Amino acid sequence: MFVSENLSVNEKGNLTINGADTTVLAEKYGTPLYVMDEDMIRKHCRTFRKSIETYYDGQGMACFASKAFSCKEIYRVMQQENMGIDVVSSGEMYTAFKAGFDMSKAVFHGNNKSSEEIDMALEMKVGRIVADNIFELETLDKKAKEKGVKISVLLRIKPGVDAHTHSFISTGQIDSKFGFALETGEAFDAVKKTLECPNLEFRGLHCHIGSSILDTQGFVAAAEIMMKFIKQIKDELGFEVSELNLGGGFGIRYVESDDPLPYDEFMNAVAKVVNSYCKENDVKRPFILIEPGRSIVGPAGITLYTVGGRKTIPDIRTYVSVDGGMCDNPRYILYQAEYDAVVANKASEPKTEKVTIAGRCCETGDMIGENMSLQHCEPGDIIAVCATGAYNYSMSSNYNRICKPAVVFVNSDSDRLVVKRETLDDIISNDI
Ligand code: LLP
Repeated sequence: MFVSENLSVNEKGNLTINGADTTVLAEKYGTPLYVMDEDMIRKHCRTFRKSIETYYDGQGMACFASKAFSCKEIYRVMQQENMGIDVVSSGEMYTAFKAGFDMSKAVFHGNNKSSEEIDMALEMKVGRIVADNIFELETLDKKAKEKGVKISVLLRIKPGVDAHTHSFISTGQIDSKFGFALETGEAFDAVKKTLECPNLEFRGLHCHIGSSILDTQGFVAAAEIMMKFIKQIKDELGFEVSELNLGGGFGIRYVESDDPLPYDEFMNAVAKVVNSYCKENDVKRPFILIEPGRSIVGPAGITLYTVGGRKTIPDIRTYVSVDGGMCDNPRYILYQAEYDAVVANKASEPKTEKVTIAGRCCETGDMIGENMSLQHCEPGDIIAVCATGAYNYSMSSNYNRICKPAVVFVNSDSDRLVVKRETLDDIISNDI
């Protein structure tokens, strides 16, 4: 009935998330509101970690790709769940560090890391840096020398796999701003260069083929390609690569027709390929890292809005306006992303309408979705948009000087504020 298994309906006919009445949460914290099911987030972390135990003898680390959802509390949860993290900016590093996260389990990515960000990573003793280009390798080597440290480096490789996804979010093909291309020999040259840098410890390779992927084929193909490259490095340079980071990108159910795989299937499929390749080719089995973001937090979150007006344009469409929009969920305007929605205070009623849920920003394309099935709703009703836990809060903006919503975590016995709602004074806080 609902796209995420943590959603249900209580005896009052109201939508619940992990047992908590969403209308009560809306009343208590106001709308728009991001609500995240902490228990589900923890469950997903354990599933990924266990898949490494089950299929790869525990020889790996699951790192939460924190670009999907970043605030201090999520890093505390990740620390408690024994996860690594993927960070891509000083902002993410700083948040994790301030939350007390063990930065030796952080992997620092980015195609254009600034000098200050690299300094910060070294000061915080970030465990691994994934180098994206030759200039970065030179900078890293120089900085390591200055500081008298050795930096553990992985190289971001474009394996040339097309992940059959929206072109904005597929990154493994040759025409991508990320990483070194295999086909052109660029990746091999980068390996040679890294090995020549005295202050860098070359740990291994990284690839990320894209996002929202609903099958294992792309991952298996990428793993095979990377293993062949690892063998080439061994044969031609006499170096045994010790780590392979296969990125994230595991898809989730946004709408009824999405059919995601159980999360442990990815490790199962990839481990088979890597294990047999190593056996057959006398290659050392690499430590494997994975970087799931969306799959951990996406299904765990919903966004609650209050309905303002309704506008029916005969024979064209009905607009239902809510008190948020592209400022808290820019994924429709960016990718025409689809979502499922429910009128939270009428959740047991049938969905009798097809409406366009319009945001409140001054922008025609500001919508949560078009042609969405919904219970009949009136001003004052609460709409819940489902599976918004990933890339909604983290991509939210202050467009139109709209304050960002609060974030609430619910678990089986309580709810708590983890990010306060922005205030108008926050909005002007940097204005001179
Ligand atoms: N690792 C690397 C190196 C990545 O670039 C990404 C995502 C991930 C891991 C995590 O991917 P996930 O498991 O979350 O799919 N804003 C877009 C998604 C951009 C993803 C960027 N990189 C969206 O809203 O769909």
